[in-house]
Amino acid sequence: MTDVLVLNGPNLGRLGTREPDVYGALDAPTLAETIGAWGTELGLAVEVRQTDDEATLVGWLHEAVDARRHVVLNPAAFTHYSYALRDAVAQVTTAGLRLVEVHLTNPATRERFRHTSVVAGVATGTIAGFGPDSYRLALQALVGAPPA
Ligand code: DQA
Repeated sequence: MTDVLVLNGPNLGRLGTREPDVYGALDAPTLAETIGAWGTELGLAVEVRQTDDEATLVGWLHEAVDARRHVVLNPAAFTHYSYALRDAVAQVTTAGLRLVEVHLTNPATRERFRHTSVVAGVATGTIAGFGPDSYRLALQALVGAPPA
């Protein structure tokens, strides 16, 4: 079974109460449950985690490399400026694992500072703008991924 880590960055634990007009009404625990159910439907072994801490996120990416797990990553605000995260993402993809960058919103349609992703250039691909469905589409991109 394809093993997938779904990692959410800062402030995504606040979904449901955080700017619901932008990010929707679904709260973080319900999103995590929904992602897990999509994984089961798609035949993937999915684990969902969230942190506000850059070092923790970097550590989880190292763990994905060592455990040979594909990754779905919503780097949240780190997307736009964290070179440490970019370097960790590069280790995942150069190890032959897939890493799909996801966003609930489409950052390209938002404030200018969100137009840059320092992660996109080393990710396998990016899915943005479909709300929670961005995660489902990202999981679909991992179905049939070469064995890790
Ligand atoms: C986000 C977009 C980022 O710009 C923002 O900082 C987030 C969430 C998204 O999922 O749309 O926290 O990654």
